[in-house]
Amino acid sequence: EAQKATNVTYQNHHVSRHKRGQVLGQRGGFRGCCLWFTGASSGQTTRIAFAVEEYLVTKGIPAYGLDGDNVRHGLNSNLGFSPEAREENIRRVSEVAKLFADGGIIALSAFISPYAKDRDNARKTFDEAGLTFKEIFVDTSLEVCEQRDVKGLYKKARAGEIKGFTGIDQVYEAPEQADLVLKAGERTVEECVQEVIEMLQDEGIVP
Ligand code: PPS
Ligand code: MG
Repeated sequence: EAQKATNVTYQNHHVSRHKRGQVLGQRGGFRGCCLWFTGASSGQTTRIAFAVEEYLVTKGIPAYGLDGDNVRHGLNSNLGFSPEAREENIRRVSEVAKLFADGGIIALSAFISPYAKDRDNARKTFDEAGLTFKEIFVDTSLEVCEQRDVKGLYKKARAGEIKGFTGIDQVYEAPEQADLVLKAGERTVEECVQEVIEMLQDEGIVP
């Protein structure tokens, strides 16, 4: 069982956000923030987040996509899918996203993040750091997700080969006040990406 860190004192950097913004990317200015994509498995969460990442990087804006499947290969390879493990998964990745954002990079987080409480804590982490956090609900109906079943996981969950699968025998708590809702079952990926970009332009995050 892990212990709590004690006798640790926060150490301040000498480099300001303004300074980081001057150095990073072809388009100066601090843009560090988090776009938090949440939604059920096979709902296009990763595809949309990575397409936005591609758009930003192509425009010379530093961005990095953090994805559940990927992060669980490394940093979070010791976490499963119990509610407690998912909570710890989201806690760690929100801290990582905060570090990216603090460094001036747009962090695009693509996690199922099924629990409202965990997403609210992620937002709190950013609020406390004075960094923008946008919750984007990839609102693809469970029927469509299961029909797509990109990795065949719904099929396995239905057959009882996977326990605690989101939407089958574990809950997905849909956001009630997301900053943006993408109807990814009814719209194309390109249309969803465009909606995200428009939000970023409205917020002055991208030119
Ligand atoms: S969570 O809930 O935020 O901690 O999940 P996340 O880190 O995003 O990981 C989701 C991916 O893990 C695979 N997978 C499962 N998903 C849901 N429930 C269970 N039990 C499960 N087991 C494995 C699956 O590939 C998910 O990827 P996506 O992109 O969502 O389909
Ligand atoms: Mg994915």
